[in-house]
Parts: sequence; structure tokens; C-alpha cells
Amino acid sequence: MISEKLEKAFNDQINKELYSEYLYLSMQAYFERLNLKGFVNWMSVQVQEEHAHAMGMFNYLHERGGKVELQAIDKPEIDWESPLAVFEKVLEHEEYVTSRINALMDVAEEVRDRAAISFLDWYLKEQVEEEANVGGVLATLKLIKNDANALLLLDKDLATRTFVAPVIG
Ligand code: FEO
Repeated sequence: MISEKLEKAFNDQINKELYSEYLYLSMQAYFERLNLKGFVNWMSVQVQEEHAHAMGMFNYLHERGGKVELQAIDKPEIDWESPLAVFEKVLEHEEYVTSRINALMDVAEEVRDRAAISFLDWYLKEQVEEEANVGGVLATLKLIKNDANALLLLDKDLATRTFVAPVIG
């Protein structure tokens, strides 16, 4: 059985993951408006990944005899200045999520829940990958500046990203 304190921390993180899904869906809509279909695809994969992250914790709480308590999801931003501004936001957001996963790990350590610590290891590794992935796109966007042709080439590249359902835990 999971402790109440850790259960609450997991529920808070489920909300953060669902907010991430919502934020990236809003960014997907922004790229639809720009007709950048590769960016749309990249974001749609990101949306699915965030849903999987939330569901991983949702399922884990049940497995551990905990109670899932869904909370209201904040309204995300809907407009950005440029694709570069979007990816700056994505990186900032992922760094925030990493800090929250670390805080969740802190709670698991505080209540000495070794099973949860081991489960959360997957999320910590995932965050390293997420930040590297986003950082890569961001670096390219910084090089591109206002070069429309280069932006369209990147769009083609981002169209190749595919969603692979993660095996969590
Ligand atoms: Fe679920 Fe992008 O962190």
C-alpha cells in the first residue's frame, strides 16, 4: 500500500503530465495554423508521450492500492511569436517537469518506498531524453533564424518522428 503523502504527490504529477499533454496539443494547433505539418507531427507524438506518462502513473497508483484523484487542468497558452519561441517554451517546461519528478522522487525517498523509487527511475531517464530531444530541435531553430527554406527542411525532418508506446517502470 502506498503512503498518503506519496499518493498525493503522484496525483499532483499526473496533473502535471496531463497539463503537458494539453500544452503540447495547444502547440500542435499553433503549428496547424502555420501549416507546418512536420511540426504538427512532432507535437502530436509529444502529446501521445505525455498521455502515456500520465497513464503510467495512473496505472501504477492503482497497482499499489492507491486512489487516483484527477484535478483541474490549467488552460495552456495558445499563441507564440515563432516556432523558436515554442521550442524555448517546451525546453523550459520540460526542465520544470524534471524538477517535479525529482521532487516526487524526494517524497518516495522520504517515505522510504523503494518500489516507487525504482518505478520513478524510468521517468528520470525519460526526462534526460526529452530535454536532449527538445534541445536538438531548439539548436537547429536558432541556426535557422529567418531562413524559410531551412525551416521547411526542418519541418520535413520532424515529419518522420513516430510514436512508440513506452514500456514504463
Ligand atoms: Fe512527461 Fe515531457 O515529461
